[in-house]
Amino acid sequence: MSNLSHPIFARFWKLCSPVADRAGSADHRRELLEHVHGNVVEIGAGLGSNFKFYPDQVDHIKALEPEPYLAAKAEQEADRIRNSKGLSIEVLRGDSNSLPIDNGWADVVVFSLVLCSIANPIAALAEARRVLKPSGFLTVYEHVRSEAPKEAARQDFANRLWPRLLGGCNCNRNTPQVIADCGFDVTSERRFRFKAAKFWIPVEPHVILEAHLRG
Ligand SMILES: C[S@@+](CC[C@H](N)C(=O)[O-])C[C@H]1O[C@@H](n2cnc3c(N)ncnc32)[C@H](O)[C@@H]1O
Repeated sequence: MSNLSHPIFARFWKLCSPVADRAGSADHRRELLEHVHGNVVEIGAGLGSNFKFYPDQVDHIKALEPEPYLAAKAEQEADRIRNSKGLSIEVLRGDSNSLPIDNGWADVVVFSLVLCSIANPIAALAEARRVLKPSGFLTVYEHVRSEAPKEAARQDFANRLWPRLLGGCNCNRNTPQVIADCGFDVTSERRFRFKAAKFWIPVEPHVILEAHLRG
């Protein structure tokens, strides 16, 4: 069992995640999960905010959440969705570095606003490779490093403090590049800005992408 405790961040996320969902993130979650099917692993499920958007072609979801407060909220949401949609969801206290899942079990691995926070995204992506079937794919929704050099420099500056305030979240990661470097081919990618505040914040550039195992 994994226990990665961020009690203040977890309660902050409980307050601000629904606000972001109303501002547009809910639509992004729906888009993220559009092609998901079969056996699914969701890494760092948080409050379980994605659960209600899983389509009918999903057979079973193993949702990992190491933070105790968030895992309890994810459990409640999983109960709600099991009862209302009959979806088969298990919430596990798993860490991305060591997934409690057999080799080649998953059709899809979902990363949603989480590769920014995982301390070792390369290890997490290696684990995703291990649990995916050869035909499997990643679906990913993340805020990312800006493609504009001046904004990326501002993100680098902000990132001196950002992870300490926001539960280990990094605002300057080039996640699509890391995914490609870890042996995945990015097969679709939509980049966009998501402004959840009236002023500039360093997490505006976003991506929704799918990536298949290379070779
Ligand atoms: C910003 S929240 C996003 C939650 C959720 N995925 C969503 O879309 O709302 C980041 C999540 O990553 C989780 N996390 C951080 N490090 C992790 C790790 N090593 N393994 C799995 N989850 C992790 C946190 O506990 C938290 O739930």
